[in-house]
Amino acid sequence: MQSLFNVPLEELQQRRSAKWTSYPEDVLPLPVAEMDVHLAAPIARELHRAIAESDTGYAGDIGRLTEAFGGFARERWGWETSGAAFKACADVATGGTELMRLLAHGQQVVVTPPVYPPFYKWIAAAGAECVDVPLAQDRGAYRLDIDGIGHAFEAGAKVLLLCHPHNPTGHVAPHADLLRIADLAAEHGALVISDEIHAPLTARGTEFTPYLSVSENAAATGLALHSPSKAWNLAGLKCSLIVAADPAVIPSGLPHELPWGVGHLGLRAAEAAYREGAPWLDDLLDAVEANARLLEGLSSDLLPGLRFRRPDAGYVAWLDLRKWELPAPPAAFFLQAARVAVSDGADFGPGGAGHVRLNFACSSEVLTEAVTRMAAALGGGGATQPALKPA
Ligand SMILES: Cc1ncc(COP(=O)(O)O)c(C=O)c1O
Repeated sequence: MQSLFNVPLEELQQRRSAKWTSYPEDVLPLPVAEMDVHLAAPIARELHRAIAESDTGYAGDIGRLTEAFGGFARERWGWETSGAAFKACADVATGGTELMRLLAHGQQVVVTPPVYPPFYKWIAAAGAECVDVPLAQDRGAYRLDIDGIGHAFEAGAKVLLLCHPHNPTGHVAPHADLLRIADLAAEHGALVISDEIHAPLTARGTEFTPYLSVSENAAATGLALHSPSKAWNLAGLKCSLIVAADPAVIPSGLPHELPWGVGHLGLRAAEAAYREGAPWLDDLLDAVEANARLLEGLSSDLLPGLRFRRPDAGYVAWLDLRKWELPAPPAAFFLQAARVAVSDGADFGPGGAGHVRLNFACSSEVLTEAVTRMAAALGGGGATQPALKPA
């Protein structure tokens, strides 16, 4: 079967999304988390149907979406959401920020760097103060520092903004860790906002546990943020969900505009994704795994010494380049010397400097070309001339 990432570069270069308009054409753009795929057929059908119906008004009732989400959550993760409360919003960024504005204004919010850089912006926008509890590492594998999170709660932090699965490391926190976090949150009167946007992208063989499903303490202390935007590549359509197992955990005072920010086409697409998008998602997971293997092979052939671990979830690679003494931060170096755009690790907070995040949701040709150019720039094996010439 052909990889879902097999989309010709010339076609991708016609796209007007952020990924394809942020760099000159000779740059391979591998930072922003968009995927080089064609839409899943059921989603494309639903969007065509909406256009044919000229159904382009405001987003309305979300009952069909939450029912579809519930079916997906039950089937995929064994999570029963029938008693849960939902709020729709444009995107996870808006949901997370607005929740923290109400729950943590003037208080401390814990994050676990290196972590998705906008978390820092959301916390600042919410008028809260950020407390870093860096991930711990065991023989190269990342994990949450549960004791550190406990100490931060003890010292007064009110919210943990959990990235679960974790971006950029791809770590999926095990059930036992989530259980302990929930107990600590309950003990200290803190709340956990679990950003689960990457959850559908959990690799086969890894178990994803929704935070809210972990225990009564988790249900009583948690809010989850979900969206089909990463797993089905729908970020531009603007539809995400705030979920609470206990409706009382949702703070009152969420802005009136929140549901009006939802894109109606996004709402229809999100329902189609959760209701009918699982077979496509399974094919996507195969494509992600194939590329992760390819990246493993390429890095060991061309860049011995580069540290890359396959993510437990998601399609970003967190690459440790600290072995090389580069004349500039690594992302700036690769942009200049290899014409490959990646995200710079320093933006991900403590522990990020010297790393880059590379989005490998692209064709094997683009991935091979990107790593070959990066290796050449670093003085490793591989081509010195770009072999694949973008138009
Ligand atoms: C952990 C995480 N949260 C949120 C987002 C952004 O989601 P949205 O576009 O729904 O705001 C991303 C995007 O990559 C992400 O990785």
